[in-house]
Amino acid sequence: MNMVKYSSLARACLVTSLSLISATTMASEKTIADLVDAVNGTLDDASREAGKQVKLRNHAKGFCTSGSFIPAPELQQQLDIPFFNQGAIKVTARFSLGGTNAQLSDKTPGRFMSLKLDGAKESLNFVTTNVPVFFADNLDDFYTFQTKIKQGPEGKQWLKDNKPDAKRFLDYLAQLPPSPSFANSRYFGVNSFYFHQNSRQNSAKAEEPVAGKWIFEPLAGTAALTPNELAKLDDNFLQPELLTRIQSQPAQWSLYIQLAKPGDITDKATASWPESRPRLLAGKLVIDGQRDASPEVTQCGDGIFNPLLLPKGITPSADPILNARTPAYIESFIRRR
Ligand code: HEM
Repeated sequence: MNMVKYSSLARACLVTSLSLISATTMASEKTIADLVDAVNGTLDDASREAGKQVKLRNHAKGFCTSGSFIPAPELQQQLDIPFFNQGAIKVTARFSLGGTNAQLSDKTPGRFMSLKLDGAKESLNFVTTNVPVFFADNLDDFYTFQTKIKQGPEGKQWLKDNKPDAKRFLDYLAQLPPSPSFANSRYFGVNSFYFHQNSRQNSAKAEEPVAGKWIFEPLAGTAALTPNELAKLDDNFLQPELLTRIQSQPAQWSLYIQLAKPGDITDKATASWPESRPRLLAGKLVIDGQRDASPEVTQCGDGIFNPLLLPKGITPSADPILNARTPAYIESFIRRR
């Protein structure tokens, strides 16, 4: 991306972020800048400046590729989201590991998938993780988690002893085996959104959007590396594995919207709903690398993925974690420009 594009994006982002910042930080003493400092481990002026120089960012280890999304026509019977009423949609994808360490080993269990779906008129972004539950339901606990986890085993133990949501997340992660491929992971949106319902069958439905969460299920199934298999791999197997795999067959996922029932908690990223909640098939994600030489893919790591970039018919829930994300990503983007 050239400088003109960078500066206009930064300006547009800043306006968005300033209006979002005031809305999201009201309930917390933490500013968006504080949250990014906690994520980056830059709590003082000197380390913040040093971070800017090296373009420090979360999910530093990652790569971009491309594909398409094929909406499921039957979704229209349930939901009124014109975006999903079109043919194949262009996809730019970034697969990543968590944290600011670009040398992190792929033998760690975290897997992340970010997507830009650019349709004929509108766009939709996803920024997802392979862990279905989040470690904090408010910005203060998010800040505490990020600062304590960087203090090593003592900080981790403190979180387990004092923060039940963090303990649940850490316990889940401890039993999650690393997958052999990004293509063998499920990806969860974690936060809730509201979806406009189709009023054709029931006009009362149109009045009440239904809450739901995104879930990507791999068509290749989930898979886990055994300790023996792990020992034979080097620290950087995930990128070559996926890029080689898609030369002969695409990596594919079904995208579902898990629907809430009345009473389900929709404003906490830590809340899990029963597995029995109904799911609507929204379509199929096909990662085939076909557009990998295009500038939007080669430069996709330079921009941001915006989890609040939503088409008509989808609106964010009141979840403070969800609403802090876009301004935090913009703050991080501005620092690493
Ligand atoms: C208060 C909540 C959160 C904060 C403050 C936060 C902060 C950040 C920051 C600063 C970045 C780097 C952005 C950039 O420079 O492009 C980032 C990236 C990312 N975050 Fe978050 N995050 C939050 C919640 C979440 C949640 C709930 C998920 C998963 C569902 C998530 C998944 C990701 C992923 C996958 C990326 C990498 C995006 C890419 O591939 O470019 N984050 N986050």
